[in-house]
Amino acid sequence: METTATKRRDKKSLRVKVISLGNAEVGKSCIIKRYCEKRFVPKYLATIGIDYGVTKVQVRDREIKVNIFDMAGHPFFYEVRNEFYKDSQGVLLVYDVGVRESFEALDSWLGEMKQEMGSQANMDSIVFIVCANKVDLTKRRVVDEGEGRLWAESRGFHYFETSAQSGEGINEMFQAFFSSITDMCENGGKRPVSEVSVGFTKEQADTIRRIRNSKDSWDMLGVKPGATREEVNKAYRKLAVLLHPDKCVAPGSEDAFKAVVNARTSLLKNIK
Ligand code: GTP
Ligand code: MG
Repeated sequence: METTATKRRDKKSLRVKVISLGNAEVGKSCIIKRYCEKRFVPKYLATIGIDYGVTKVQVRDREIKVNIFDMAGHPFFYEVRNEFYKDSQGVLLVYDVGVRESFEALDSWLGEMKQEMGSQANMDSIVFIVCANKVDLTKRRVVDEGEGRLWAESRGFHYFETSAQSGEGINEMFQAFFSSITDMCENGGKRPVSEVSVGFTKEQADTIRRIRNSKDSWDMLGVKPGATREEVNKAYRKLAVLLHPDKCVAPGSEDAFKAVVNARTSLLKNIK
């Protein structure tokens, strides 16, 4: 016979679907294995298509049954992956901090997902966690924390530094992941607003990233080589309004602002 207690427990249980995305070899499968099986496999065993697993977690008074779809990162498996994007509540976006290309590929992973999901509205009902993985390999690190955090937080995504090898950050990351998914389900399927308001805009974040990656002072100010004093000053004023430390709290804004001031000074020195 079904008792009131079992009914209450059923009401509090949740079933969710999460997927992992990111380039091949960044450590998606190892992160999941570290969490579910508490172990690390140093040998690379590429995921063929999709790996599927189930785990149960407790978030506050709810039991969550998590269906994990671990995707293959290799482009070859696109046809297999594309039908698994739909109906996900959570996405683990993983890159390797020692491989810049895997960080830069995050936009195209989002792009692939958006294309399969159809409308932007669907993307707003998903919790995204960015894992900057392999932080144990400090000597080969090329993408620093500020850059990764900026990319993630400017999009309303969580950011965690992880190592599937040492276990660093893994439990904290999954706890935050499942707790946010539960919050979202309790919030009628919408990501709670507090998570998305990070105090700076995507334009500010993208500009800081562009400045960091610029090849020279012209490029930094966004003007053509040989631009006039007026053009340089106009471009400078626009960036100064956007990035002034009094107005911009995005990580890295102070350094970006200083770099812009220096770029303007050096360009003006050489323009008559
Ligand atoms: P695909 O399935 O091909 O998309 O790759 P994946 O992202 O699932 O990568 P996987 O988890 O198989 O790991 C790739 C390689 O990186 C393996 O040799 C792992 O042992 C290694 N690796 C994964 N995570 C870490 C980590 O945090 N630190 C170190 N040092 N190595 C790691
Ligand atoms: Mg894998």
